Amino acid sequence: MEKQTAQPLNFYNNEPEREEFMTAVIAGLRQSGKELPCKYLYDERGSLLFDKICELDEYYPTRTELNIMQQYVYEIAGRIGRGVQLIEYGSGSSLKTRVLLDNLSDLAGYIPIDISKEHLLNAARKLEKIYPDLKVQPVCADYTKDFTLPDDIHPTAPRAVYFPGSTIGNFNPEDALDFLKSINRVIDNNGVLFLGVDLKKDPVILHRAYNDRDGITAAFNCNILTRMNRELGANFNTDQFQHYAFFNPLQGRIEMHIISLENQSVRLNGTTIHFAKGESIHTENSYKYTLKEFAGLAEKAGFTVDRVWTDDDTLFSVQLLRPDGYRS
Ligand code: AVI
Repeated sequence: MEKQTAQPLNFYNNEPEREEFMTAVIAGLRQSGKELPCKYLYDERGSLLFDKICELDEYYPTRTELNIMQQYVYEIAGRIGRGVQLIEYGSGSSLKTRVLLDNLSDLAGYIPIDISKEHLLNAARKLEKIYPDLKVQPVCADYTKDFTLPDDIHPTAPRAVYFPGSTIGNFNPEDALDFLKSINRVIDNNGVLFLGVDLKKDPVILHRAYNDRDGITAAFNCNILTRMNRELGANFNTDQFQHYAFFNPLQGRIEMHIISLENQSVRLNGTTIHFAKGESIHTENSYKYTLKEFAGLAEKAGFTVDRVWTDDDTLFSVQLLRPDGYRS
């Protein structure tokens, strides 16, 4: 991994390359069922739009998760333990993390990992100001793939991996299992995984959360077209595409799509991609779990569910998992 010396922060850059984006886009749009990896929704604008989504009335996960954490923070901090190295996957603006940073004792350091470089650096700089004694080591990486953690992080401190926001729901169940297994390896036998898991509920509530009246989710979704135009020289006419999200009860997931409103062709790196009127690009899945379903997944990945906290309406859960062979 390349260490960036020009950055004032101790920053590690493993940002996905343009080539990788191009290859994924061409492969995804050439398929008969067109799709794009949801990680590409998060360029700088996408990350800012996602932050706005988190503030929406309709988008219950963020505030519900935050409320649960605030309500149970002493118990949570007690169970995570003292002196841990906090490693956050998909840190974004690190807002919820502050509840942990304020309450965990003797932190050995904080490693925020995110795919959106500018967003990550801005958030890390803010945290450094608020917590001058905290060792913050941002890592820009696509954590859905193999990547190495900085080798100068505290070698002996137990690792507490924090994975908030129910981002685990954006993996399909097989990938979620592999991902949980990889975290299990990262934390070793003396660490913990603390994560947010969104729960199955009334589909009307789910539908509203991904179809807000201000069109922020629509802008977030369709921003990937603008990103392909800017970064890959594509010529999507963004007015001729529309956001479409719905709950698929058979799969237990919200599906987010971009629908072509016309028969049209788009040029991209010397290739022409045809879209029929009504054809979709599948951009994201957001799986929702029952507590039992998630415990089953965690168990397959070699974890024991230590404790689950939910809100009164059981909209959302935060969970503490320990590796099966846990020893403190
Ligand atoms: C990041 N992730 C958990 C969000 C979700 O709810 O699946 C992404 C999102 N997509 C549309 N709105 C929010």
